[in-house]
Amino acid sequence: MDKTIADIQAEARRILSGLYNQRELQQIVFELLACVGFSRVQVIACPDAKLSETDYQRLSGQLKRLTESEPLQYIVGTERFMDMDFCVCRDVLIPRPETAELVRLVADRCTAPSPRIADIGTGSGCIAVSLAKLIDGAQVTAVDVSEAALAVARQNAERNSAQVEFVCADILADNQLFAPQSLDIVVSNPPYVTETDKQQMSRNVLDYEPHLALFVPDADPLLFYRRIATQSAQWLKSGGQLFCEINERFGRETVQLIENLQFDNVELHRDFYGKDRMVSAVWNAK
Ligand SMILES: C[S@@+](CC[C@H](N)C(=O)[O-])C[C@H]1O[C@@H](n2cnc3c(N)ncnc32)[C@H](O)[C@@H]1O
Repeated sequence: MDKTIADIQAEARRILSGLYNQRELQQIVFELLACVGFSRVQVIACPDAKLSETDYQRLSGQLKRLTESEPLQYIVGTERFMDMDFCVCRDVLIPRPETAELVRLVADRCTAPSPRIADIGTGSGCIAVSLAKLIDGAQVTAVDVSEAALAVARQNAERNSAQVEFVCADILADNQLFAPQSLDIVVSNPPYVTETDKQQMSRNVLDYEPHLALFVPDADPLLFYRRIATQSAQWLKSGGQLFCEINERFGRETVQLIENLQFDNVELHRDFYGKDRMVSAVWNAK
């Protein structure tokens, strides 16, 4: 017998109601049905609309993947960030709302005309692409150690018509990434989750998101910040700015580390939830 929108809604409720609340379930159904061409209005107004056998099988398979805690974003293949669609797959971290706050902070604080910007650890390219779109004349270079992540980031730049240069490099080892005093802004959301934090993490992050993007050793949680700030002290022009997303547990330590490297105006910023989430600093403030 032909399956309908109502059947897939019922199946979603049957197999997912222990995992998601009513609102989340409705959202999931909207997003999955959008991928096979049904708008929200159609889902609400036409529950008897028929699904092809192929679409029904595909949707059933996707619901099953959700029961195994796979993030919806990997299943549908996209995430919305700064009002743009970004392709995501298991090679890249799913862009987070707090990272959009970092992007807004950079765009608000950027005063240099046609600034040269480096995004370190670009992943899906969400920061680099957003800044290239938001800031007039920005020349953005995005760096990642993962070729697979860079392939996704390139796709996202193209998809959103953003001009970004991509470079594959290991920030911890490469000493020649940018010329001295050549950059106006360095921005980074580097790996910052410690092995201790790992115990609190949910399966959908631990089992699916790339560990290369997430984890740092307990013994050196500020590893990336030390390296990025030390390198930025070389790369930034006088008055150039450094912006990083941080682990909420290490706000004061990250500020201290950056101050010890002789940056000026080091500031800690809270995110929407009131957690210490970003640090900004100026190199040789006038
Ligand atoms: C927390 S994710 C951030 C991704 C993206 N910028 C975002 O905000 O959603 C960190 C990124 O750093 C990259 N990465 C990890 N180690 C690196 C290294 N040694 N050099 C350069 N990039 C690295 C990972 O591949 C990952 O894409």
